[in-house]
Amino acid sequence: MPEFVGAVDQGTTSTRFMIFDHAGREVGKHQLEHEQVLPRAGWVEHNPLEIWERTQTVIGTAMSRHNLSATDLAALGITNQRETTVVWDRRTGRPYYNAIVWQDTRTDRIASALDRDGRGDVIRRKAGLPPATYFSAGKVQWVLENVEGVRAAADRGDAIFGNTDTWLLWNLTGGTHGGVHVTDVTNASRTMLMNLETLDWDEELLSFFDIPRSMLPQIRPSSDPDLYGRTSGRSAIPEGIALAGDLGDQQAATVGQVCFAPGEAKNTYGTGNFLLLNTGTEIVRSKSGLLTTVAYQLGKDRPVYALEGSIAVTGSAVQWLRDQLGIISGAAEVEQLAAQVQDSGGMYFVPAFSGLFAPHWRSDARGAIVGLSRYNTNAHLARATLESICYQSLDVVKAMEKDSGVRLDVLKVDGGVTANKLCMQMQADILGVPVSKPVVAETTALGAAYAAGLATGFWSTTDELRENWQEDRSWEPQWSDDQRAEGYAGWTKAIGRTLDWVD
Ligand code: G3P
Repeated sequence: MPEFVGAVDQGTTSTRFMIFDHAGREVGKHQLEHEQVLPRAGWVEHNPLEIWERTQTVIGTAMSRHNLSATDLAALGITNQRETTVVWDRRTGRPYYNAIVWQDTRTDRIASALDRDGRGDVIRRKAGLPPATYFSAGKVQWVLENVEGVRAAADRGDAIFGNTDTWLLWNLTGGTHGGVHVTDVTNASRTMLMNLETLDWDEELLSFFDIPRSMLPQIRPSSDPDLYGRTSGRSAIPEGIALAGDLGDQQAATVGQVCFAPGEAKNTYGTGNFLLLNTGTEIVRSKSGLLTTVAYQLGKDRPVYALEGSIAVTGSAVQWLRDQLGIISGAAEVEQLAAQVQDSGGMYFVPAFSGLFAPHWRSDARGAIVGLSRYNTNAHLARATLESICYQSLDVVKAMEKDSGVRLDVLKVDGGVTANKLCMQMQADILGVPVSKPVVAETTALGAAYAAGLATGFWSTTDELRENWQEDRSWEPQWSDDQRAEGYAGWTKAIGRTLDWVD
């Protein structure tokens, strides 16, 4: 009997492969970054071939490092940066263009036009999403309109679309001509093309973007006992591993954090932050700037939905301090720098680099650092950066409480930034509720492994998975109510500055 399950986590900055045992413990991993291609202000691209190459290397390396073969893995799950759009030629496997990343704002004209003629409201109602540059459909339209030969190739049925889950599944299962062309309901729910009720591509939505249906992958459950396929073994990856789990990364983290009951929520701190609240089999429409999305679908069960607060820039603001400003040499250093001062010295930083996502949805907003005086130093900026992560999360929690009527009594967290203890303490202070982190912080990969393992009988029920969840540590709020109110008033003013910048 195989003892392990594997998961590929194809994220915005890196691709990692992780191996878990039956108790959900990490057995091994390998991770590689890929290039962020930034051709113009607001444009963000990845090379899909580099991503596929990195995927092969991380799987091959981790498997051989731990002396594992295909028969040691009960199944393989995939999880991925959502919305990021790849269009390729099904005959050759060559992408027509780089992947257009979820953070990319080149489609702002396409997105803003949707709200001028009523199409935006149809998208809100059918897809559960506000029209924005964030989602895939506008990116596919951009490729069809701007990359030579793609429109004709799409009309011939040669050009196909996928997010990076689809791109990897196609390559993992493929011979020289590629393999299965599939995605799961959670990824499909981020395109603006899937109807949340039918869980199928919607003709009216497709017509808004002039996208031929033949470009789109088949939509499958997130955990599929029928399997998406098996690894074809055309690379360093062993042949014959069952591919049985596929979820967008934030939905995967929701599963990894075992948020299986309505009312359970998690916040993942990665490149951006994504807070998801399980709303059960009910589709809850947001009135406060959140998204309605599919949380997961396990086999033939009814899909479970979520309300989501997506924040574009959190961990990547720390990377900006490192890469663009050079005031820290590694992301971990931000904690030491911020700890040199007691507060941000009146400074607020709103990192609206890709506009503002939830709850504002303003593609035209741009970043601002406000409240500066001669007194301020790099340490204050480091602290203001960490505070911006926490205040943006507070805005989303407030929207979530308004929509659901449920008051949060603890926030389950995961993701890279949760290694920053100062930031987690600030989060508890700014929210006014405890923050709780599990032992396995890699909940995204774990969730994809759970989906794949549930499909193949490695785990039998979600209750079994609940038993694997253990708290590593928690942070209690220490601020007074006055301190919290004063801090938030300043933040709200700073947000106003990023919005009126464009007026
Ligand atoms: O919606 C975008 C999200 O899926 C990206 O997540 O962790 O790759 O930044 P991450």
